[in-house]
Amino acid sequence: MNSKMINEPSYPKVNYIGNKEKLLDWLFDSLPKGTTSIFDAFSGGSSIGYEAKRRGYSVISNDILSINSKLAHALIENSTETLDKKDLDTIFTGEPLKGFMYKNYSEVFFFPDECMELDLYRKNIDKLSSEYKKSLAFSLIRRAMIRKMPYSRFNLNWDNIKQLRDEEYSYEKYKRRRAYHNESFKSHFMKELSVYNGAVFDNGKHHKTYNDDVFYLLDKIHADIIYLDPPYTGTMNNYHGFYGLLDEYIAQKKLEPFSNNFRDKKSILELFDKLFSNLSNFKYWILSYNNGAYPSKEELIEIISRYSDDIEVIEKPHNYQITGKAKKSKNMEYLFIIKNRGLE
Ligand SMILES: C[S@@+](CC[C@H](N)C(=O)[O-])C[C@H]1O[C@@H](n2cnc3c(N)ncnc32)[C@H](O)[C@@H]1O
Repeated sequence: MNSKMINEPSYPKVNYIGNKEKLLDWLFDSLPKGTTSIFDAFSGGSSIGYEAKRRGYSVISNDILSINSKLAHALIENSTETLDKKDLDTIFTGEPLKGFMYKNYSEVFFFPDECMELDLYRKNIDKLSSEYKKSLAFSLIRRAMIRKMPYSRFNLNWDNIKQLRDEEYSYEKYKRRRAYHNESFKSHFMKELSVYNGAVFDNGKHHKTYNDDVFYLLDKIHADIIYLDPPYTGTMNNYHGFYGLLDEYIAQKKLEPFSNNFRDKKSILELFDKLFSNLSNFKYWILSYNNGAYPSKEELIEIISRYSDDIEVIEKPHNYQITGKAKKSKNMEYLFIIKNRGLE
């Protein structure tokens, strides 16, 4: 291995539901040539934006969930700042306290003493010296919280969580103890620290992160490509339910589910029409979707053809890894590659 390969930046363990990690080569090899900037409008766990940065693009990221924009801010927009010993002392100093998590989520998602630790770390993260460091710390706390949570999502009830965190029960039932659910937040944080720090790199380009409803940004941003990876309607796609707790941890208050969430079958055709009617700033529109979702490929083509007559769809068999579901259905992943003739 030469030194370039040793230093090659690599995407850390994020474990985002609906991520595109296993599709990256297929997807990037299919992107139009001669493009240098990309707007990852539904960035989720940032697998696409990170790979785009690795491949030399200037990346603009957005997600409606604040925790996802912290990830993009820490790993994509940030090109230089990492967490050092002093920062760790800041994060892990002091006594656990009874704050937002303790009051609202003791024996809802975590044990009371764990909530108090989270409350201490949350308070301490605010003391870090830069916004990039704070985002990196939130990304690592996120990772620790996800590791301790059965099925890696925050829409399970406490009885279920307690049972799945019972190592004897887990061993008897699944032949796996899953002891990592009972490891401390700090231990998870420290285990991933060098991986997350090592993922920060500079590709010589400028990057920008947003945390907004995509519909507010479409006329404000310019890029060669807009990459659209919305929740797939009709599939397991309750992103507020999965990860809203992380946003509440950041905001220190209860939050309502967001709208324009691509979940409602009744309004989804209108929402897609609204999306494609607003993409005039971008040369290419790239959409990910699959055959298990609604609307169908044909219906999507019908909507998109109102705005462009240059549409190509490529397909690849792909199963999303869904923990907690016994059966995986056979899926075909679609990539719609659309040219905006209005910008020719
Ligand atoms: C399929 S996931 C994206 C996965 C991502 N490409 C990855 O590799 O991890 C869809 C994302 O869309 C976000 N989202 C849903 N509605 C949105 C909206 N109106 N504006 C911006 N983001 C939205 C969700 O929070 C979720 O993270």
